Amino acid sequence: MKKLSSPFAQLPFFTAPILLVPFLLLALIYFLLFPNGFNLQSGLLAPCQCNTCPATTTTTTPAKLATPAVDLRVLLGVLTVPSSYERRALLRLAYKLQPPPTGAVVDVRFVFCNVTKEEDAVLVALEIIAYDDILVLNCTENMNDGKTFDFFSAVPKLFADKDPPYDYVGKADDDTYYRMSALADALRSKPRRRHDVYHGFLWPCDLESPNPEWQFMVGWGYVVSWDVAAWISSEPGERMSRNYTKGAEDMAFRHWLRLGGKGKNMYGEGKRMYDYLDGEKPDREKSCYRHELVPDTVAVHRLKSRLWWARTLRFFNSTEGFKPSKMYHLDF
Ligand SMILES: *[C@@H]1O[C@H](CO)[C@@H](O)[C@H](O)[C@H]1NC(C)=O
Ligand SMILES: *[C@@H]1O[C@H](CO)[C@@H](O)[C@H](O)[C@H]1NC(C)=O
Ligand SMILES: *[C@@H]1O[C@H](CO)[C@@H](O)[C@H](O)[C@H]1NC(C)=O
Ligand SMILES: *[C@@H]1O[C@H](CO)[C@@H](O)[C@H](O)[C@H]1NC(C)=O
Repeated sequence: MKKLSSPFAQLPFFTAPILLVPFLLLALIYFLLFPNGFNLQSGLLAPCQCNTCPATTTTTTPAKLATPAVDLRVLLGVLTVPSSYERRALLRLAYKLQPPPTGAVVDVRFVFCNVTKEEDAVLVALEIIAYDDILVLNCTENMNDGKTFDFFSAVPKLFADKDPPYDYVGKADDDTYYRMSALADALRSKPRRRHDVYHGFLWPCDLESPNPEWQFMVGWGYVVSWDVAAWISSEPGERMSRNYTKGAEDMAFRHWLRLGGKGKNMYGEGKRMYDYLDGEKPDREKSCYRHELVPDTVAVHRLKSRLWWARTLRFFNSTEGFKPSKMYHLDF
């Protein structure tokens, strides 16, 4: 065999047939870059879990292999009405373009009661075919008349066979934007995990020493551990809760927990959950529940207009994956 002049020539693998050389070189490069195999690679790719990387980077095969095991599963029900097509489209986009949480899965489902209009039945059926992210409860559409109860009592039964099961279930309004990584990390960091947890934004927020017995999580976004929902769904839980489904649903929810002695591990996120206040044109005063966007946000509420959604999504770098092209010109 002809002697190669390369310094690698002494290595035995260079005696392999010449066609294999490119592959062997690739393998060599791989082992030089990643001597510890996928462990190091996961470290290298970790920055792509941050907000600055386009969401697509995490869908490459090596990144998938390097993804840490999922140890936290959340079902988030967005309570809305059948006719809110535009809002659902916006929320799907917003959540799709978030960096996926590390080691956690948050499934978003749009929740409403019986669909009664002909056009809605057809169009919602199309959405279900396309996205399968809708849950239709057996109830009559209402705001403060038991929809929350119907949701929390139905979910443990509907997902009883899910394997692996959810650890938490939450509800959000359709003008609320959760940041899933922040939510997952927040839930994971609490001292009491997965057991008797009631998480959200504590109300009232302006008292010196509020009585926790009378505080509750505001209704635009809260999460409980699965055992709490299972209790609401149980025979005694239903019996106690069903009586109190009139009026403000968030206070009613707190009342059920009080009656059942549930949700003892209350975790309010304070300034990380708040009402939107437009930085350019504030229309209200700042307060303990309303301020400008902050980077470590768990959830923002009161996103009432497309402009406010747009500003919020831009602030949280949802537009990072945008690539210039001769096909369009956009300034943002
Ligand atoms: C739906 O609710 C109605 C009225 O509350 C009840 O009569 C009916 O049995 C329920 N259907 C199902 C499938 O649970
Ligand atoms: C919802 O729709 C189902 C099926 O069409 C019906 O059986 C049920 O009674 C309705 N429930 C309510 C509360 O209207
Ligand atoms: C529910 O309300 C009914 C009628 O007001 C009352 O008789 C019953 O004791 C209540 N049940 C519970 C569990 O509070
Ligand atoms: C968005 O990206 C910029 C530039 O990379 C960064 O400075 C900023 O902290 C990011 N914002 C958030 C909310 O993560």
